[in-house]
Amino acid sequence: MEKEPLVYIDGSLVPKSQAKISVFDHGFLYGDGVFESIMVFNGVAFQIKEHVDRLYDSAKALCLEIPLTKEEMLKAIINAVRVNGLRDAYIRVLVTRGVGDLGLDPRKCRKPTLIIIVDKIKLFKDEAWSQGVTAIISSVRRDRVDATTHEIKSMNYLNSILAKLEANAVGADEAIMLDERGFVSEGATDNIFIVKGGVIYTPQRSSGILPGITRRRIMMLAEELGYHVVEKDITPAELLTADEVFLTGTAASIVPVVKIAGRTIGDGKPGVITRKLMEKFRELKESPAEGIKVFE
Ligand SMILES: Cc1ncc(COP(=O)(O)O)c(C=O)c1O
Repeated sequence: MEKEPLVYIDGSLVPKSQAKISVFDHGFLYGDGVFESIMVFNGVAFQIKEHVDRLYDSAKALCLEIPLTKEEMLKAIINAVRVNGLRDAYIRVLVTRGVGDLGLDPRKCRKPTLIIIVDKIKLFKDEAWSQGVTAIISSVRRDRVDATTHEIKSMNYLNSILAKLEANAVGADEAIMLDERGFVSEGATDNIFIVKGGVIYTPQRSSGILPGITRRRIMMLAEELGYHVVEKDITPAELLTADEVFLTGTAASIVPVVKIAGRTIGDGKPGVITRKLMEKFRELKESPAEGIKVFE
């Protein structure tokens, strides 16, 4: 029989089938918690420090005190990967408000719950990277920056799920969301870039995006390749008439978008600059320089 994966819950490693939390946990009752996704590429927990920093920033914005220091958190994550023996994996770290009563007052929750899952994930079909994906422009606007903003990586993803439902309804792979002013914000679970006339553009944080760790890495790689990257407001018309469009995210890396709301992007194939960036990112994944070695 295959060995069951082990899940870390509050300091204990338990088999997946027994990895359970209380129904009174406010992460479950109210989506009150924060999370991170981290990839392990070739035995290296890729950009793990950036993810842990963002986890603590998200928690701070929610007045959620994580009971571990960052150093202890890094050790707990690395150990969870090690005991599961996966050289290539997807890690999900969750910190919920913890167990409280049925009211939503966070003060009733005495101790946050910490969960670390080490598994695999598949966000798009296999051909997505070679052929590109399709997208809609969702009627669901990205949450405002003065509301449940996605700048905070919280466990409350209904805003994205509503958009994803619209994409599913018409058989599109992804939903692109606009901010409350009507400018392009991001995908349901990824950041977005467009290319026009050899220049790369991406929305600013003020469009309510999650400041993606992959987004930042891609901006750096693009600059290394000699491209100019501009953060600016992007209109839906600019999106639909772009030469190239691509999405970035931890689990998906870079995914070309070839059709949006019935319009073909460029010539309907992954663009030249997108492919160059995909190649650069692939090299990085094969021998990740930024991260912590889990296995020698
Ligand atoms: C809403 C949202 N935007 C963007 C991203 C991409 O961010 P990152 O590259 O840090 O994974 C994600 C995925 O984590 C996301 O959920």
